[in-house]
Amino acid sequence: MKLDNYHVPVLLHESMEGLNIKRDGIYVDVTLGGGGHSREIMSHLGADGRLYSFDQDADAINECFSHREQMQDERATNWTLIRSNFRYLKNWMRYYDVESIDGLLADLGVSSHHFDVAERGFSFRSDAPLDMRMNQEGGRSAADIVNGYSAEQLTSIFRLYGELKQGYRLATAIVKARRTVPILTTLQLADVLTPFIGRDREKKDLAKAFQALRIEVNGEMDALREMLLAATELLRPGGRLVVIAYHSLEDRMVKNLMRAGNIEGEIEQDIYGNTFAPLKVIGKPITASEDELSGNPRSRSARLRIGEKA
Ligand SMILES: C[S@@+](CC[C@H](N)C(=O)[O-])C[C@H]1O[C@@H](n2cnc3c(N)ncnc32)[C@H](O)[C@@H]1O
Repeated sequence: MKLDNYHVPVLLHESMEGLNIKRDGIYVDVTLGGGGHSREIMSHLGADGRLYSFDQDADAINECFSHREQMQDERATNWTLIRSNFRYLKNWMRYYDVESIDGLLADLGVSSHHFDVAERGFSFRSDAPLDMRMNQEGGRSAADIVNGYSAEQLTSIFRLYGELKQGYRLATAIVKARRTVPILTTLQLADVLTPFIGRDREKKDLAKAFQALRIEVNGEMDALREMLLAATELLRPGGRLVVIAYHSLEDRMVKNLMRAGNIEGEIEQDIYGNTFAPLKVIGKPITASEDELSGNPRSRSARLRIGEKA
């Protein structure tokens, strides 16, 4: 698959502005995907600038690895690709002797590639094993969760991560269906859930149910929490944190961190009433322009926030 088909980057110009890139700075892109954002960061860096790009998905690393090989530019050696979950950000920076960074970009969630390759099991557009792991080398698949979790656990996943009011009905439908035969494919799951979803909202709610499972399979909330706290520590004064979120829970975490310095959003004050906040919020959250929306529907739910290390 060519990089251009892999994923069209969202809010590209806005995220570069948010990072306020210095030519000799050290930057991290924790969500490489098709490399659209990373390549744009590279194009702003001079000979002394460095970029570390993470992805836990081998497909993303392989795609960008061959692209980097073809760069024919000595700066390519300043671009390091790291195949890892971004929750290990601090360990990797220590490994590369990086004490502080000038900016970090996170463009959360999955890429178009994940939906386009049916065998990855993220989509109900075609039938495939119910997998949904971004890192295919380990961990539980969506099938493990669908066939192994209790009705209560499934209900809370659908309600919390899918924002589906009918979470209980979906969960009990799964539990009933799997008594007869295990639910092992994407279309099998879609068939079990569809009768409990209003016809007018069929695709939207089914997409939300699949999204909820994906978030659980990949432990996305825990990884985001750990990465955001590590990023806050690593940024040097004036360094920028730019996050594009597509889900209200993710966005709330980012907003809390930028406003209060912690994930819970609790503002801490010293005995004199001075608030303690390691980051300063820069501007208002940014959403996609009409122009971008018409060319890239994925940008519809994107919300970009910028924080600057105090
Ligand atoms: C929305 S895409 C990024 C697209 C990218 N900005 C571009 O321009 O092509 C998100 C990527 O982040 C990766 N990802 C998501 N969560 C991750 C995590 N916890 N650790 C590492 N990579 C992750 C996914 O595998 C996916 O490739």
